Amino acid sequence: MKVIRSFRWLSLASVLSCLSAAVHADTPVSLATPLGLPPLVIPASNPLTQEKIDLGRRLFMDRRLSHNNTQSCGMCHVPEQGFTSHELGSAVGIEGRSHRRNSPTIFNVGYQHSLFVDGREPHLEDQIWGPLLTRNEMDMPAIGYVVEKVRQLPEYKGMFEAAFNGPVTAERLGQALASYERTLISGNSRFDRWYFGGEKNALNAMEQRGFQVFMGKGRCVTCHSMGEKSALFTDHKFHNTGLGWERTMFPERTSYRVQLAPNVFVNVNAQHLKSFEPPMPDVGRYEITFNPKDSWAYKTPMLRNVELTSPYMHDGSLQTLEEVVDFYDKGGIDNPEKSPLIVRLNLTPDEKTALVAFLKSLTGDNVPALVRDARTAPENLPLLDVDPSDTFMNQVNARLP
Ligand code: HEC
Ligand code: HEC
Repeated sequence: MKVIRSFRWLSLASVLSCLSAAVHADTPVSLATPLGLPPLVIPASNPLTQEKIDLGRRLFMDRRLSHNNTQSCGMCHVPEQGFTSHELGSAVGIEGRSHRRNSPTIFNVGYQHSLFVDGREPHLEDQIWGPLLTRNEMDMPAIGYVVEKVRQLPEYKGMFEAAFNGPVTAERLGQALASYERTLISGNSRFDRWYFGGEKNALNAMEQRGFQVFMGKGRCVTCHSMGEKSALFTDHKFHNTGLGWERTMFPERTSYRVQLAPNVFVNVNAQHLKSFEPPMPDVGRYEITFNPKDSWAYKTPMLRNVELTSPYMHDGSLQTLEEVVDFYDKGGIDNPEKSPLIVRLNLTPDEKTALVAFLKSLTGDNVPALVRDARTAPENLPLLDVDPSDTFMNQVNARLP
């Protein structure tokens, strides 16, 4: 087994491209484990190979994976924006169709025990069919349609054969995308160097105080858990903080972020919006389990790289880490199913500032390398020059007698 060592000196892209010359399609590669993270478990049914990673990266950035050739995975999970989208509280799919939820980051997604904010999908390999087939995301008409469309794209000629010794199938699409996504591991933050690496000066005094608040008075660690040798900052569970409840029960109280000019935003209360449409209902984990106790419960996000992944929460309703900390300080929003672990904290202004400073120390050292790597997708992918009405089915129909 080949091991890709630390990204610290070489970009992931350059390490991977050196390997690709030397390693055969069937030779598994494994990713180095950065400080602060546990070893990543790769499923035996989908060993990580260089060919699959390259193929998955290309698919991730390809707009032709949407029905009208306009939207790629990477346009909602934007590499330069922490693999989420800063401008959008809730995601927008093809033809401007609104989604009810925020695009979560996919940094470290290989460590997730369940996918989506309600945890409905257990496997990264199968997760792709959510966005690909959902009407307000990429809106592909059927699984077989996606398979046939990719089979006919000249840029993929030979790539599936090289990675899988066989042609495009639904399963292989998922395996390739999952393989690329698993490379997005990011640790060795300043916090990791201080806490796990024993580097005394890696965090300043304020950040260290913030960590004490995180572990103590702030009670954050009860859900954003840490282990002895590594920390994912999640318990992999679902909790009701009150945000989802308020949005569904009192949509008019919710404030919305409105863009006035590039990078200029204001928060407007919903009732002041002329064309206010109540948000689509969202009951969180309850939608999967039908257990009333799971109403408005959402998955605990990992906090790594959290400085780079605004806006926050399942609906993107909080814009800054200061707003998140204020939200917890007030004890979330009371409702019948609110988690008993969310209580009023009475933090001092200094404790809040320190807590935010600590959260900002969780940024991994390889983020620029991962962004560069995402953009090494081949230049020859057609982007804006494709005609959105030129769908694959129109081409097929045109060829029919
Ligand atoms: C229209 C924007 C959009 C597109 C396009 C999109 N996603 Fe997402 N993605 C989202 C949203 C919104 C969610 C959260 C939905 C939910 O939890 O119900 C999500 C969730 C995810 C998750 C789960 C993350 C977690 O921590 O649970 C993964 C993985 C993911 N997307 C990968 C992809 C891949 C791969 C593609 C392309 C095949 C893709 N996405 C295309 C918006 C998008
Ligand atoms: C009861 C469990 C629990 C506790 C305690 C808790 N959190 Fe959370 N945290 C969550 C859940 C669940 C979410 C997702 C909520 C949603 O999506 O609506 C979340 C979301 C967040 C987010 C947004 C991350 C993102 O990517 O959107 C941040 C930041 C955060 N928490 C920080 C903290 C801090 C700081 C504390 C301590 C003051 C804390 N949390 C305490 C469960 C908890």
